[in-house]
Amino acid sequence: MNHPLVPFASVFVRYMRLSDLEQVQAIDHMSFTLPWPNSAFQYELMQNKDSIPMVAEINLTNGEKLVVATVVLWKIMDEAHIATLAVHPDYRRQGIGQKLLAKALLEAIRKGARLATLEVRAGNEAAQSLYRRFGFEVAGRRPRYYKDNHEDAVIMTNKNLDTFYQDWLTSIAEEDPNPD
Ligand SMILES: CC(C)(COP(=O)(O)OP(=O)(O)OC[C@H]1O[C@@H](n2cnc3c(N)ncnc32)[C@H](O)[C@@H]1OP(=O)(O)O)[C@@H](O)C(=O)NCCC(=O)NCCS
Repeated sequence: MNHPLVPFASVFVRYMRLSDLEQVQAIDHMSFTLPWPNSAFQYELMQNKDSIPMVAEINLTNGEKLVVATVVLWKIMDEAHIATLAVHPDYRRQGIGQKLLAKALLEAIRKGARLATLEVRAGNEAAQSLYRRFGFEVAGRRPRYYKDNHEDAVIMTNKNLDTFYQDWLTSIAEEDPNPD
């Protein structure tokens, strides 16, 4: 398990705000070889009515707050599409990604989503492992989808967002990631 640079006391998930953008973009750049353009998160916040942009914020033991993870879901018709999900490298493997994803999926379901989809790099075992844990299954492949290294995209879906699944999401969303 990685240890955080600064100890944190608790994790809180909420909707993204304009004031988060600098931290959100920094996490995006640290997490992806093809980060989103700087205007993209602002578009999600200000213009995209189908967007569910959320962050996980930690309360540090010194009283400060820090955004350490970000997610954007698009809720289109009855489908929730996970457009991006990233956790700051120093805070990974501590349950923050799954808490944020669970909260965002619950929000999409509350707004009418009945299935969830995403694309993930074929070689991204960490993310695929997380999504498998969330009940996603491989539904297809887009050959040479990513422009930087022509890696395939794996399409994953979860068509089973029933009440039993929602209860499971709620339990994950309420878990308190514990650094130690
Ligand atoms: C994928 C990512 C969001 C996971 O975030 P995280 O906060 O580290 O994940 P969590 O601690 O909540 O992990 C929950 C579960 O997911 C799986 N998982 C997460 N990271 C994993 C890894 N590196 N290897 C294997 N399984 C992993 C495990 O089942 C884990 O449970 P466990 O720790 O009890 O074994 C994070 O690694 C990340 O930001 N990666 C870079 C960006 C990215 O690839 N985003 C996805 C794009 S589709």
